Amino acid sequence: MKKRRTLIYIISILLLCVAGFLIYRSVSREPAPEYVFTYAENQSEGYPTSMGAYYFADLVRERTNGRIRIIVYPNGTLGREADVLNQMRYGGVDFARVSLSQLAELDPNLNVLQMPYLYNDADHMWAVLEGTIGEYFLEDVECVDLTGLSWYDAGARSFYTVGKPINRVSDIKGMKIRVQQSELMVDMMECLGAEAVPMSYEEVYAALELGTIDGAENNWPSYEDTGHYKVAKYFCEDEHTRIPEMQLCASHTFNMLSESDQEIIRECAKASALYERELWASRVEESRTVVQRSGIVITSISRREKELFREKMAPVYEKYCSEHMDIIDEILKAQ
Ligand code: GCU
Repeated sequence: MKKRRTLIYIISILLLCVAGFLIYRSVSREPAPEYVFTYAENQSEGYPTSMGAYYFADLVRERTNGRIRIIVYPNGTLGREADVLNQMRYGGVDFARVSLSQLAELDPNLNVLQMPYLYNDADHMWAVLEGTIGEYFLEDVECVDLTGLSWYDAGARSFYTVGKPINRVSDIKGMKIRVQQSELMVDMMECLGAEAVPMSYEEVYAALELGTIDGAENNWPSYEDTGHYKVAKYFCEDEHTRIPEMQLCASHTFNMLSESDQEIIRECAKASALYERELWASRVEESRTVVQRSGIVITSISRREKELFREKMAPVYEKYCSEHMDIIDEILKAQ
């Protein structure tokens, strides 16, 4: 009996050694990476865009058998969006996902894709981004030394405020509202009679808490994930803009890759974008539930008020779109 037990014990140890050896061989068979790249993301680890980034990095690693490794840095670790874009152009960061508002500061042609009340709904926006216009603008960023890879979803943006709710457009008058560091967004707020306060995403929570601003605007997942709902409890679901996001590679990084690797990168980016869109849809619902449970007050504005908002945006359309009316017409036709 004792002998049998010893035998079983020895066999188990041997089996464990063999398994360990096989695992070691399969891991060590992946060659040392030829390229190690950085990927900047300003959202938290579990946020849909970050999950999309991890998925992208895993796919690229798999498809290149480990030759290309992409290390994702979430939480804005590599800097604010504006700084990340500069670092991409001058050699510090290889990949990123950024909001179009920030990118349009470098390539103002992109402004036509983020005009207030431009899209009727998400389907309309995706019909545009997945068509020739979307492809055209992915290529357009080449003029600022960036390579556009895919479009990520960021839903619709609405206002949220600290002291009082917004029920009509005139309620915004005189309020200090944080906007992205974008000239178009500043102009939009000024047309509404508000004081635009441009600042980076990372600074908004403290500004709301300290009362340096009266409100801000963003989508449901950002409102929830940043905890802004804890300090600004009035959410006006006006959905004034849909600002898509772009997944990018620095052109000097992209151009050092072989054509077949470039193809892999493009395909993996597109696959990750589809994944992010799926995650986005469910995250919007989850975020809405979380913040509603916390007791926030949701208001909306009537159709007439939306019309008024649109009318007030006429100078912004005039300033940013007069040279691109053909594209605006095409976008309107895509609904
Ligand atoms: C969204 C977007 C971020 C952006 C932020 C902002 O959350 O995903 O990339 O920085 O808006 O309002 O600045």
